[in-house]
Amino acid sequence: MSEREKRVAVLISGRGSNMKALVAASRAPDYPAKIVLVISNKQDAAGLEFARSENITAIAIDAKAYQDRAAQEDAIHQTLIEHNIELICLAGYMRILTENFVAKWSGKILNIHPSLLPKYPGLNTHQRALDAGDKEHGCTVHIVTGELDAGPIVAQAEVPVLPGDDVDSLTARVLIEEHKLYPRALAMAVSK
Ligand code: GAR
Repeated sequence: MSEREKRVAVLISGRGSNMKALVAASRAPDYPAKIVLVISNKQDAAGLEFARSENITAIAIDAKAYQDRAAQEDAIHQTLIEHNIELICLAGYMRILTENFVAKWSGKILNIHPSLLPKYPGLNTHQRALDAGDKEHGCTVHIVTGELDAGPIVAQAEVPVLPGDDVDSLTARVLIEEHKLYPRALAMAVSK
């Protein structure tokens, strides 16, 4: 690894398709970050197996194994420190981080969110865009702060909402953009 490559951990909860996109991008020799650790809050997250197949350390820190949220986050924090992590990417990590954890990593946590923030923080973003009759929808990479999905925006990608769209078709269209946006936004964030 070259001196200037930032050591990045990706936090997931499930299939990890955005994590895969970040791993693929970071294989390019001139990419300024390297995914060196994947953590899931669920033991059975499919993304863990993929990471291991890519020779990336992949660890489940399952909420169920800890007394409370603080204890689970302490375990995540220790693991990040042990692996000399410089930046964290949340990629479908479906557990809200406490302000205490975010403060320890202030300005060093990115998240990808499936809407054009500040529209539709939280869940069910595609349904909400359809219900509102939006003509444009998309995804956002932002810096994580103590307030849910409200931190400074790094980059966004738009997609059209087409006649006849349902949640599945819109989800798929946005996801294609997520996989392009996150690697680009991570490179921007570490090159600043
Ligand atoms: C992605 O669409 C991501 O934007 C979303 O979960 C999906 C995870 O897919 N994240 C959130 O909704 C966060 N609030 P992936 O596991 O295949 O990357």
